[in-house]
Amino acid sequence: MKRIINKGLSLSRKVNCVDLDEAIKGRRSIRSYLTDPVPEELIREVLEAATYAPSAKNGQQWRFTVLTGNAKKELTDIFRQELRFLCREIGAENMGSSFGSCNIMEEAPVVIVVWNAGEEGWETEVHSVAAAIQNMLLKAYGLGLGSLWIGDIFFVPEAFIRHFETPWKLMAAVTLGWPNHDPSPLPRKSVDQVTEFLG
Ligand SMILES: Cc1cc2nc3c(=O)[nH]c(=O)nc-3n(C[C@H](O)[C@H](O)[C@H](O)COP(=O)(O)O)c2cc1C
Repeated sequence: MKRIINKGLSLSRKVNCVDLDEAIKGRRSIRSYLTDPVPEELIREVLEAATYAPSAKNGQQWRFTVLTGNAKKELTDIFRQELRFLCREIGAENMGSSFGSCNIMEEAPVVIVVWNAGEEGWETEVHSVAAAIQNMLLKAYGLGLGSLWIGDIFFVPEAFIRHFETPWKLMAAVTLGWPNHDPSPLPRKSVDQVTEFLG
């Protein structure tokens, strides 16, 4: 992984970091993890990066629940059970990637449930919390960790809300761990395909 020294900073503030373009373009969704644990210090660094995201009115309404060990197993057991119930109701063909995402959450050593405290209103805060999640993924990559943003929890959101008994709004789950594969980049639409320039 390419690392550079920030040349623009004074000596006392020089930091080692992954080049920004390298982080933006090199990050991948990681769906297979080694069993090695992730030190809490690194999890904290990932969460600290989240707290530096922009937020509507600087509301910082992101909240996080970090799960490892038994706490993670309790949640993934509930997730799997609820997915099975739903599958009986709506059929396997309608379950999308949900069981696959559950497998990944079971395998990853860390699952972070991301919430929206919603104190400034849910709508704008959705954007703020999404920005925080992207910071987490980039920071994880910078630390050599793999991560995955998981929306499949919304197949059975009530299971998560009931389990944690929190008034916060469920936003996502993010897995963290040491990558066990090196996926190729997925194709991207070009700037021209997704942009109109008006003037
Ligand atoms: C809001 C959101 C929800 C996602 N949910 C899932 C998910 O539930 N399961 C999964 O395997 N990947 C999920 N992903 C990952 C995307 O599939 C992935 O980002 C996309 O295919 C591009 O691949 P890349 O992240 O490697 O660039 C999600 C990503 C986002 C932004």
